[in-house]
Order: sequence, then structure tokens, then C-alpha cells
Amino acid sequence: MKYTKDLGLSPKAPPPGLVTRGVAIWPGWLDRAAQKALVAELRAVIRAAPLFSPITRWGKPMSVQMTSAGRYGWFSDRRGYRYVPRHPTGTDWPPIPAPVLDIWRAIAGPGRDPDCCLINLYRAGAKMGLHQDRDEADFTWPVVSISLGDDALFRIGSTDRGGKTESLWLHSGDVLAMGGPARLIHHGIDRTRPGSSDLLQGGGRINLTLRVVD
Ligand code: SIN
Ligand code: MN
Repeated sequence: MKYTKDLGLSPKAPPPGLVTRGVAIWPGWLDRAAQKALVAELRAVIRAAPLFSPITRWGKPMSVQMTSAGRYGWFSDRRGYRYVPRHPTGTDWPPIPAPVLDIWRAIAGPGRDPDCCLINLYRAGAKMGLHQDRDEADFTWPVVSISLGDDALFRIGSTDRGGKTESLWLHSGDVLAMGGPARLIHHGIDRTRPGSSDLLQGGGRINLTLRVVD
């Protein structure tokens, strides 16, 4: 798949450095200065909407800490996974930072901005099991994901359950998109490499996931 349109992305999106199983990856989209500027904006978001540890539907706390920006935030508890219009404290989710919207518009096009920017913080030992992003009502828009901080081993499966998977390392500043035929592909984070980046105070990795919800 050579053309970004075939990947469910804007025909004007820059050509990805790598495409595997329909997942487009742009290594090093953000240089160090841009990463630092983005982290400063995310700090302000996290001050307004503090990180929390969501509980899975099986009652276990997830190993990643989360918060969101945008019209909706992703939320999980024993009732299941869903989008909610407010942070658990009752406050509105802060607006999605402008540099994040710039990346979305370059990849997905200017027609529609994302409703949610999920912020996942992986401290040492945190991971995320293989899953599909399917809590949205509209799958016509891609999922765009931005990596900051420690390296992470990203596992990609298929759109069905089971079957072979493959893994690749994501680095700070990399951007990835799952659109078109890969919109419902299984993916997860096996592990991070603690200490591989000094971008974040206290270490770790931040992943931003941008999605149209409804
Ligand atoms: C996710 O799928 O929610 C997170 C993926 C990542 O951390 O790169
Ligand atoms: Mn996901």
C-alpha cells in the first residue's frame, strides 16, 4: 500500500517511513525541541485534569496512568470502557494542545478534528495488552498516536482475534496511524525500556492517542 489514501489517511499526508500491516509509522516526526514543547503543554493539561489509574471491567487497576483532553475522555471501570464528557473530578477535559492538532490535521486532513486525545503515562513496568480501539461510534477516521519518552515495544496483530503478531520499537517523537483497513487492528505495548529517554521528569513514556468518537 503505497498511497496514504489506501491507508485511510489524507491524500496529502506525508509518506510514512514504514508501513506494516496497514499501520503507518513516521519515525522522528517530532525533533527534540518539539517534543520538549509538547511535554510542557501536556504538563498543563495534567495539572488541570490529573492522571488516574483506570480500573478494568474485571476490577483490576491498569498499569498505565491516564487522562484526556478534548470533548471526550476515555474512561474505564467495572461498568466497562467508554467515553465520558468530564474528568472523574467533574471538571471538563482541557482543550487538545495545538501542536497535537497540527499532527492530526497533517495525517487525517483538515476536515474533522479529533474528539479525544487520550494521554497514557507508562512508568517503569507499565504495559498494555493486545486490544482493538473500538469504543468509538465512527471508524471512518484513523487513530493517530504519538510517542514521547522511553522506547516501547509495540505489538501488531490482525483485525481478527488470534494469528501471528509482529513487534517493533517505537521511539520518542515517532507518530503512528491506524486507518482504513488497519483501523480495527489489534495492538498493544509489551514493555517499555525504562531509562532509554530523559525527556520526561521522573522517567517513563507518554503516548497520545487521537480519535474521532461520534
Ligand atoms: C493504546 O493503544 O491505547 C496505547 C498504545 C501506545 O501506548 O503506543
Ligand atoms: Mn489502543
